[in-house]
Amino acid sequence: MDTAFDETVGLLRTSQTVAIGTETVYGLFGRADDPDAVARIFEAKGRPAFNPLIAHVSGLDMAERVGHFGRIERELIEAFWPGPFTLVTERLENGLASDLACAGLDTVAIRHAAAPFLSSVIRELEAPLAGPSANRSGHVSATNADAVQTDLDGLIPLIIDTGPCDEGIESTIVRVIEERVLILRPGSITADMIENAVGCPVFYPDAEDASIIAPGQMTSHYAPNSDVILNATSSEPGEIYLAFGATKKTVKGTAYSLSPSGDLREAAANLYSLLRKADSQNPVHILVAPIPDIGLGAAINDRLRRAAAPQR
Ligand code: TXA
Ligand code: MG
Repeated sequence: MDTAFDETVGLLRTSQTVAIGTETVYGLFGRADDPDAVARIFEAKGRPAFNPLIAHVSGLDMAERVGHFGRIERELIEAFWPGPFTLVTERLENGLASDLACAGLDTVAIRHAAAPFLSSVIRELEAPLAGPSANRSGHVSATNADAVQTDLDGLIPLIIDTGPCDEGIESTIVRVIEERVLILRPGSITADMIENAVGCPVFYPDAEDASIIAPGQMTSHYAPNSDVILNATSSEPGEIYLAFGATKKTVKGTAYSLSPSGDLREAAANLYSLLRKADSQNPVHILVAPIPDIGLGAAINDRLRRAAAPQR
């Protein structure tokens, strides 16, 4: 095995953390069954300890040492693992996810990512890895190794550069409740895909309950330092405009396109790196073009609304 692999495994065996790319975003990983490692993750990110982490596994066998799975959960796993898909399920007592990783909840979020380096590390350790997105808490997620470095330089011992992330937006998170699938966080596995795979209704948390069911889905999140304004169709010099499709003549400031051809997959893959690129220039505002709210567009708009929400 190569040096990067050995170094990663060595660090994780001694309660350290390592940032590694997945197909969604980069994660900051530590052993889910090791409270010291998990504490280091919270500390490096500046993340509040009430916000639980996802346990990343190498397959269903390992997942069954972390949580309980019913029929619908197994069908979802069959359809969407490995991939950008996370299941919140009842946590196994004395399972492989520590109390700290789960913020003391009796549920646990579990994901098998389609990420070859990460998966081989998990297989080698024979233990799940707790992993939030590898960014400063509340900030824009990182979709390449440079972005991880910008946010967490000096705070973590190792970043494995697995290249830019293909998907660019965090995994879909669901929980099965009474034969229905609750979407806690939209992602590239869409509501339609879920409905087609398991044939049961899909629903969203109502606004009042959302904070209780998904502790980390704060209103302000994924946020750049500059103010973000959505559904913009024009801009002024000093502002930066993120277009979807071709850039209009009404755009006077610097402009970048999330997808010149108006493709939602490409826009998702470019979203965080362009938000970071715009933000690094300290513009008066970052303006974003309207994004169609269909399919993957729902996940993009979810992240954009949070990026634009007033920061506390
Ligand atoms: O694509 C992804 O999911 C990335 C990669 C690294 O896997 N991870 C990621 O982790 O986005 P994080 O921590 O940034 O977001 C996980 C979300 C948080 O909002 C957290 O509150 C929620 O999952 N979560 C974790 N455990 C939960 C639970 N038991 N119940 C409800 N929500 C949970
Ligand atoms: Mg995150």
